[in-house]
Amino acid sequence: MQKRISSLLISSLFAILSNQAHAADDKVWISIGDKALQQLQKLAPATVIQQSSMVLATPANRLNKQAAQEEQVHLVQVSQDQMLRLSDAIHHELKRCGGFMFHSDLNSAKVSLSKLSVQNKAGLAALVAPSYTIDNQSVVTPMLTQMQASNIAQTIVDFSAFANRYYTTNNGVNASNWLKQKWSSMASGRSDITVEQFTHAGWAQKSVILTIKGSDNSTEVVVLGAHLDSINTKGTTETTKAPGADDDASGIASLTEILRVMVANNYKPRRTIKLMGYSAEEVGLRGSQEIAKSYKAANTNVVGVMQLDMTNYKGSPQDIYLYTDYTNAAQNQFVANLISTYQPSLSIGYDKCGYGCSDHASWNAQGYATSMPFETAFTQDNPYIHTENDTFANSGGQADHSLKFARLGLSFAVELGSDGPGTPGKPPVTDSYSGSLTQNQTKSFGPFKAASGSVTVATTGTGDVDLYARKSNLPTTTTYDCKSDGSTATESCSLNQSANGDVYVLLKGYTASTYSLKVTYTPQ
Ligand code: BES
Ligand code: ZN
Repeated sequence: MQKRISSLLISSLFAILSNQAHAADDKVWISIGDKALQQLQKLAPATVIQQSSMVLATPANRLNKQAAQEEQVHLVQVSQDQMLRLSDAIHHELKRCGGFMFHSDLNSAKVSLSKLSVQNKAGLAALVAPSYTIDNQSVVTPMLTQMQASNIAQTIVDFSAFANRYYTTNNGVNASNWLKQKWSSMASGRSDITVEQFTHAGWAQKSVILTIKGSDNSTEVVVLGAHLDSINTKGTTETTKAPGADDDASGIASLTEILRVMVANNYKPRRTIKLMGYSAEEVGLRGSQEIAKSYKAANTNVVGVMQLDMTNYKGSPQDIYLYTDYTNAAQNQFVANLISTYQPSLSIGYDKCGYGCSDHASWNAQGYATSMPFETAFTQDNPYIHTENDTFANSGGQADHSLKFARLGLSFAVELGSDGPGTPGKPPVTDSYSGSLTQNQTKSFGPFKAASGSVTVATTGTGDVDLYARKSNLPTTTTYDCKSDGSTATESCSLNQSANGDVYVLLKGYTASTYSLKVTYTPQ
C-alpha cells in the first residue's frame, strides 16, 4: 500500500513532466504535503522549498477535535532530472501518501498557498453555513428505494471499457464525450437540466458539468463530484490499460444513478444542483482546481460540495469513512446525520487522506465546504488502483458498496437542494413566540424564511422590550436593518424583501418584561 502510493506520486509527476504541459524550462511547480516532502528532501537535499505554509484547523473545525488538521504544505519546483534521480529511491522510501496540487506558474502557486493560510486564519467568515436540518424524508426515502446497484455496475463496466481515461489521450477525450452524451440523453426531457463540457486550456480532456437549475434559489449551488480521468502509473500511452473501475468510474457511476432517480421522479430542486465529472484529477487535481477557481472568481455561492472518489471496494469494517482533513466539520456532521437517518444500518468510520488527495481539496482551497465519504479506511483501500487491474471484477463484480454512496449522495443533494431562503408560493405566514426577559437579557429568533414581499416584526407585552430585525444575519443592538425601541413592550418594524431571503430578530428586555412576538411574512 505504502509503496503503491509513493510510486503513484512519482509516476504522476513523471507523467506531467513527460507531457510537457508546463513551462519550457522543464520544471513544474507543485504544492505537496509535509510528510511526503520530508522524504523527498532526505533523498534530494538540493530540492529548493520556495515557500511553506502551516495549514491550521479553521475556527469551526477546531471545535471538533476529530477534524483538527495541522500539516505543512510546501511549494517546490521539480525538474525532470531531479525526478529521474529520485524516482527509484523515493519509490522505496516514501512512507506516507503524498497528494499534490499542480500549479501552472509560480505566481498562481503562491496565491494558492497564501489563500490556504489566510482562509484558515479568517475561518471563512464570509460564508454563512446553510441549514443542515434533515426535513425532506417524504421526498428522499422513496427515491432511495428506487436506486439499484445493477445500474451502477453497468455504468462502471461501460466507463472502464475505455483502454484508459488519461487526461492527454484520445481515449481520455472520448471518455469525457461519452459521459457528456450519457448524462445529456438521460436528462433530455428536462428543460431545466443542461449538460456542458468545461474546456481546459492546457490539455484536451474536458470536465463534464450537469446543472439542474434551482426553481427559486438558483444562485445557491450544491456540487456533487467525481473524477472522470484514470491513470496507470506504469505508462501513459494511448493504449496503456487504465480501466479505473474503482478509481473513479465508481464515483461517476454513483452520480449517474443519482441523476437517473432524480429524473425518474421529476425532482426539481429549489437550489441549483450540479453533478461534475472532473478531468485531470490524477495529475494534481488540475480539472477541479480550474473549475473551483472559476466559481470563486465569479463569486458563486456554492453551499456544499461532496466528492465521491472510490466507492465500490469494501476493504474495511465500517461502511462509509468520512475523511476529516480538508473538509468541513459542520458539513461532515450533517453527512453523518444523513447516514444515520436514511441508511441507519450502515456504520461510519473517520480517517484522513492528507494534502491534495482528491478534488474536494480544490474546493476547500477556495473556501467552500466539502465532504469526502470514502470506501475504506485510508490504509485499506483498493490495492489495484492506478494499475491495469483496477477492474470491476477486482472490486467484487457487483456494486453493492457503491449503492451506499449513491444513496448518501442523493440524500445530500436533495436535503441541501430542497432548501435555501424563502417560502415561495406560501400565503401570509405568521410565526408567534412568547416568553419573558429579565433586565438587559437578549433573545434571538429566526431564520424566518421570506420570498419577495414584506416581513413585519411586532411585540406586545408588559415592561419595556426593544426589538431589532436584520436580513441574512442575526442582529445585534447596534447592527440591524430595522428597530423599534420605545418605552413600552409594544414595538413594531418592517423589512422589504426584493428576493428570497432570511430574516432574524433580536429582543432585549430594557426592563424585566414579558413579550408576545409575531413575525408576519406577506408576499408581494
Ligand atoms: N482516488 C485517489 C485518492 C485516494 C487513494 C484516497 C487512496 C484514499 C486512498 C486519487 O485519485 C489519487 O490517486 N490521489 C493521489 C493524489 C493525486 C493528486 C495524484 C493521492 O492521494 O496520492
Ligand atoms: Zn487515483
